[in-house]
Amino acid sequence: MAPVPLSPVRVGHIDDVQELRNAKPTTIPERFVRDMTERPTLATALSSTSDIPVIDFSKLIKGDKDEVHIEILKLGIACEEWGFFQVINHDIELSLLESIEKLAKEFFMLPLEEKQKYPMIPGTLQGYGQAFVFSEDQKLDWCNMFALGVEPQYIRNPKLWPTKPAKFSETVELYSKEVRALCNNLLKYIAMSLGLRQQAFEEMFGVAVQAIRMNYYPACSRPDLVLGLSPHSDGSALTVLQQGKGSSVGLQILKDNTWVPVQPIPNALVINIGDTIEVLSNGKYKSVEHRAVTHKEKDRLSLVTFYAPSYGIELGPMPEFVDESNPCKYRRYNHGEYSKHYVTSKLQGKKALDFAKIHTKISN
Ligand code: OGA
Ligand code: NI
Repeated sequence: MAPVPLSPVRVGHIDDVQELRNAKPTTIPERFVRDMTERPTLATALSSTSDIPVIDFSKLIKGDKDEVHIEILKLGIACEEWGFFQVINHDIELSLLESIEKLAKEFFMLPLEEKQKYPMIPGTLQGYGQAFVFSEDQKLDWCNMFALGVEPQYIRNPKLWPTKPAKFSETVELYSKEVRALCNNLLKYIAMSLGLRQQAFEEMFGVAVQAIRMNYYPACSRPDLVLGLSPHSDGSALTVLQQGKGSSVGLQILKDNTWVPVQPIPNALVINIGDTIEVLSNGKYKSVEHRAVTHKEKDRLSLVTFYAPSYGIELGPMPEFVDESNPCKYRRYNHGEYSKHYVTSKLQGKKALDFAKIHTKISN
């Protein structure tokens, strides 16, 4: 195979992938070209045929006793074996999903100068730009991001809430309320699937922190060389992801050492377990590593909500999940500190959780 030409292409705004795509460089700039081991080879992505589990939310909230019981069992299996599932019949109005998606697209289509009025603030993830970049030699993701802290109010930075497109900010507000209710409900059923009281997480979390991140992945002429989003687990308790309509398949999760693509189901939401639930359940439910890949012709948009405990909360494995055969795997820590650690580290698989891991000697 001929070597890939690696000469960096100088364009006006070198690291903004939408600008880069519009400049139609003949080669991919080196900062985006992944090392061989990280490249998204098609072979691994297509080798799995199984799909992530589907949970029918309406059965959880409206089903008869047996239906609820079965759906909770399914939810438990989804959390334990996959860490990911799709939720159908989730009660969030389709028109709201459509409007937030339309407005997010419009936002990303604004001129760069307009988007740069909301620059990402270092040390936080809020604003427009490339997140998780800390050194010159770090590879960049083929993605533009715009993120906002939503709840509680004090985490908001009003200067970052866009005035264009019209209705953007109020739609984010409406959407976030609905997603918050969904998270709250799902956490109840997740608690039950773990044999805990329904309110266990809600009581523990205090006023939950909620943030939204919009990821825009422009088409890439060499999807085999780049990653849309580096492999990582989420630092949240729960993450809710809406994939844009007509988007290419882009999200992949690492299962049994294979990257499994998440096939979008129209109007479904993709949910995943974050690091917080992994710690609380002492690893019974794990946050699963995932990444996004790009497409040769199609752009892709995803809207991602992170739902996490209040920053002031102290966390550690719950006593229910610790015994002689399941020794405590994580130390107690302050969630705000974990959050700070997460946003100031580069995305690197599950490395962020080393923060809390207790490394026990393996004895045979
Ligand atoms: C994230 C994430 C995946 C996607 O934002 O944490 O995993 O498909 N996004 O955009
Ligand atoms: Ni993620």
